[in-house]
Amino acid sequence: MTPADGAYPQDVVLRALRVEDVPVLDVLERELFGPAAWSTQSLAEEIVGPGRWYVGAELGGTLVGYAGLWFDGEDAQVMTVGTSEQHQGRGIGRLLLDALVGRARTVGARVVLLEVRVDNEPALRLYTGAGFERLGRRRAYYQPGNVDAWTMRLDLQQADV
Ligand SMILES: CC(C)(COP(=O)(O)OP(=O)(O)OC[C@H]1O[C@@H](n2cnc3c(N)ncnc32)[C@H](O)[C@@H]1OP(=O)(O)O)[C@@H](O)C(=O)NCCC(=O)NCCS
Repeated sequence: MTPADGAYPQDVVLRALRVEDVPVLDVLERELFGPAAWSTQSLAEEIVGPGRWYVGAELGGTLVGYAGLWFDGEDAQVMTVGTSEQHQGRGIGRLLLDALVGRARTVGARVVLLEVRVDNEPALRLYTGAGFERLGRRRAYYQPGNVDAWTMRLDLQQADV
């Protein structure tokens, strides 16, 4: 998929997420993840949680995407990535993911890990395009529906990523 009009991601501004963003995040979270969405309380706790780094993508002053990383002192874990449905396919997800990977490098992570639904084609394209490789399959990882997850890894110690 190519950018629809070339306007993104140049017009997108990345910034740290704040607790004040939770009401908007809450709406995005429900739009993007449906029954699997985090609760309002989980979102509020997560964005300020220990070792967490959350970034938002703004377009014209409105949050249209967000992503989060957890660094445990050794490895980094992608906690979430999401782009508002009406702005998908224009490079915002990749911009957010690149920001997470950049942060992982800055804090000295060896690898970046993540889980993704095996049927989530857009996310799989996003991650493989950024150099992530499949590690293994976790059975019935996602509820509801018992959907399997791929675990994926980006090795930051390789020179070419
Ligand atoms: C996954 C997601 C974050 C991608 O965001 P995005 O802003 O559309 O991503 P980008 O525009 O940077 O595109 C990244 C890749 O995904 C592909 N992609 C985006 N939308 C797609 C779609 N509907 N179908 C297939 N591929 C798609 C793009 O083509 C691109 O791949 P390419 O580099 O090979 O062309 C977005 O689809 C989303 O928010 N989905 C719902 C939440 C979710 O599933 N998050 C991931 C949880 S693990």
